[in-house]
Amino acid sequence: MRRDLNGEEMIEFRLDVIKLAEHHGIEATKKAFGVSKSTIYRWKKMYKDSGYNPAALRPLSRRPRNPRKREWDEKVIQYIKDKREERPRLGQIPLKKELDMFCKEIGIKAPSASTIARIIKWLKDRGEILDPNVKVSLYGRTGKVDISNRYNIPIIEDSAQALGARYKGQCAGTFGFSGNFSFYPSKALGAFGDAGEVVTNDEETAEKIRALRNHGRIKGTEVMMWGLNCRMDNLQAAILDVKLKKLPKWIERRREIAKMYQEGLCEVKEIKLPPPPVENEEHYDIYQNYEIEAERREELMVYLRNKGIEVVIQWGGRAVHQFPALGLGDVHLPRTEEMFKKALLLPLYPELTDEQVRYVVHSIKEFYSQKS
Ligand SMILES: Cc1ncc(COP(=O)(O)O)c(C=O)c1O
Repeated sequence: MRRDLNGEEMIEFRLDVIKLAEHHGIEATKKAFGVSKSTIYRWKKMYKDSGYNPAALRPLSRRPRNPRKREWDEKVIQYIKDKREERPRLGQIPLKKELDMFCKEIGIKAPSASTIARIIKWLKDRGEILDPNVKVSLYGRTGKVDISNRYNIPIIEDSAQALGARYKGQCAGTFGFSGNFSFYPSKALGAFGDAGEVVTNDEETAEKIRALRNHGRIKGTEVMMWGLNCRMDNLQAAILDVKLKKLPKWIERRREIAKMYQEGLCEVKEIKLPPPPVENEEHYDIYQNYEIEAERREELMVYLRNKGIEVVIQWGGRAVHQFPALGLGDVHLPRTEEMFKKALLLPLYPELTDEQVRYVVHSIKEFYSQKS
């Protein structure tokens, strides 16, 4: 609470607490102010000595600060604000490293990670910085993307897997200030090589992204920032242009196949299925992937592969934090880890025939009825 008060209000607040404490015949506690008990005694004495004149407490809030500390605070705080605005990132690890370098450059001692965390929290409490919330729409289903908007949190939608998906009638990728789509060959709309797209209604973001994909260049001759080489080549664009026209039909076929899996497998108690494609639901899913959770997954995988059915355990059955090289060994996500032990992708693409889908369904049922 104290953090939200300005100098004047702080004095009022202190007085209120002291008055209240005196009214009840008790001491104003250390906890009430987050300062030492002796400081509170000093305030009370000053207040009494002044004949209960609030002005007597004023100097307390104007205590001169250590000028070096002030310089340090301001530079570091400004740096954090600028960086967050320039390149909103999640987590503080890259920021800490950069901040250390910055402090070294200007010859001041770098703050500890916990101090940075405190500064960031303080800035957030004051509404000065807001971390964007990245919403990932996995497997062709959007999350409940409207929720973050209620709290005015900027959203970046990772709709790489959800082109054509909708939530309450609105298209994936259009909820936040930007959304992105992947046209990696295995995607519902896949190029013949790598390609992708970012959508935004925000002019400034659009300009930055255009620059970012092209070595930071704008208007041919000006460089506005460090950039990347991420241009989509013309051939991919031409291929995507042709395929885009067929996408709605392909999505419908994907949904038909998902429905067949649902109807064929819903009674197999050893597996858990994704939500079925129901008309007029909040979600319109495009079934980029059809992933089930299966008991005895490895055995099932071998069984199906031996029958010529290509099923996949994504990432070899490990979540991001379970790859030692990524240095996330201290992260524990029991629910994610549990799901990664059971997850198995079934084949789903528009070219699958009904007969092939029935064969997959039949083979899974056969596996669970024969083996136990
Ligand atoms: C959810 C999600 N985000 C991002 C990406 C990355 O897309 P790309 O491979 O086109 O860079 C993918 C690709 O599979 C994805 O599924």
